[in-house]
Amino acid sequence: MSLRTQSSLDVTEEALQEISSEANKLVFEYLKTISERPVRAENYAGKTTESIAAELSTEGIPLTQLLDECRTILDLSRHNGHPRFFGYVASPSTPIGAYGDLIASTLNANITCWRSGAAGTEVERMVVRWLGSLISYDHDAKGLLTSGGSMANMIALLVANRRKSSTAVSRSGLWNSGPPMTVYASSEVHMSIAKAADILGFGRDFVREISCDDRQRMRVDLLREKIEADRSEGLRPFCVVGSAGTVNTGVVDPLSDIAAIAAEFDLWFHVDGAYGAPGVLDERKKHLFAGLELADSVSLDPHKWLYVPVDAGCLLFRDDAAAKATFSTEEADYIKTHGYVDEEAFAFWDYGIELSRRFRALKVWLTLQYYGSRRIAEAIGEDISLAAYLGELVSNADDFELLAPVELSICCFRYIPRERFSETDLDKLNERIMERVQKGGRAYLSNATVNGHFALRACITNFRTTKNDIDETVAVIRDAAKTCVS
Ligand SMILES: Cc1ncc(COP(=O)(O)O)c(C=O)c1O
Repeated sequence: MSLRTQSSLDVTEEALQEISSEANKLVFEYLKTISERPVRAENYAGKTTESIAAELSTEGIPLTQLLDECRTILDLSRHNGHPRFFGYVASPSTPIGAYGDLIASTLNANITCWRSGAAGTEVERMVVRWLGSLISYDHDAKGLLTSGGSMANMIALLVANRRKSSTAVSRSGLWNSGPPMTVYASSEVHMSIAKAADILGFGRDFVREISCDDRQRMRVDLLREKIEADRSEGLRPFCVVGSAGTVNTGVVDPLSDIAAIAAEFDLWFHVDGAYGAPGVLDERKKHLFAGLELADSVSLDPHKWLYVPVDAGCLLFRDDAAAKATFSTEEADYIKTHGYVDEEAFAFWDYGIELSRRFRALKVWLTLQYYGSRRIAEAIGEDISLAAYLGELVSNADDFELLAPVELSICCFRYIPRERFSETDLDKLNERIMERVQKGGRAYLSNATVNGHFALRACITNFRTTKNDIDETVAVIRDAAKTCVS
């Protein structure tokens, strides 16, 4: 048996130079051309795998061919960074954020704790504090970066439950803890809350859906009624979730009023600001977020409205004792931070689910520091203004109807043809229009159901979008509508 005498997978200095300059060239080309590409490539299932080498190579493939295949993969992708991409909640990444990911992967630190990733841990704790301060939650916020809002919401629900029940549940299981424990959220809350309740064993039915007012904000009078009714039936309410920017229409629940109810009934108050929390940076919208500072925990996604590349979610809390009580374990000797005390014994495994964790904070830190909070806030304010502009265009047009007020940067509307259509046919027509627009590649919208109607939905979290892009999108929708009506 021969033992290795030199590194096996490292490459020569020339090869390293070639990888970095050729990969950089590709990134440069992509960022330079993104606005001219179709938003979505013409595609069918299997086209990508047909277009690149189909077999796993045994001897390796030359770099030039691999980068050409990367170009094919880029060409066959949907370009969320295109200025007329308005689907779901997906923002473009800033160039510096993308390089943040490259630098983090180059270092390949595993941010489990200070001992294992001292610099990365400190940067993450600093970034978490900044995010808490940026959204006017808490200047000394604790928390952690996550894969996204779904993970942040799930961690929040678990911490909330343990704080309001007992950490003994972690040993004995929920079935030994007494009557079901209930969570409250509006009918507009993101699906990740019900999913978390399912995964955590609370049960989807025990997420009590509170109806909304005509602006899609949680009805706090109904919240109180439901909590009282559940209590009188012996259930154990433990958490209320407010939305700071709902996924459908972008409205912010009445956070102060919800906080008051949470305090009155001793519930954990979680705010899902995964999409909308950065909206507080626009002075015109600040008032909507009053009460955010009263939350026990807040989710926000830098990979949504702070333009950081996926993945970068965040869960913030003010008091880390509840998180530590939930996640700290004495059981695993192999992770003990022997020889470290105080700040040097800090471990993210005491705060959440993951053990191995990417150095996500680097790209968040680079993005925030490269632009500064003022420019980021300006970009967010511009997104909000562009959504309002789209709202005006559709409200003032005879062939469109605005379906919900534009509160942050989401505009929900539908096309109304001159001919009389039933409600069902209007839904079908708008669904066809959306499909036509999505497949056409000139713009991209997704959908929402608003007061029972099928809505075309534009979510503008896109620093590349300009007024012309909004005008063109309206023209694209009209073009699609003509072909769908005729
Ligand atoms: C309000 C809200 N919460 C949570 C999520 C889930 O976030 P993620 O996709 O990062 O898991 C989303 C996603 O769009 C959202 O809009």
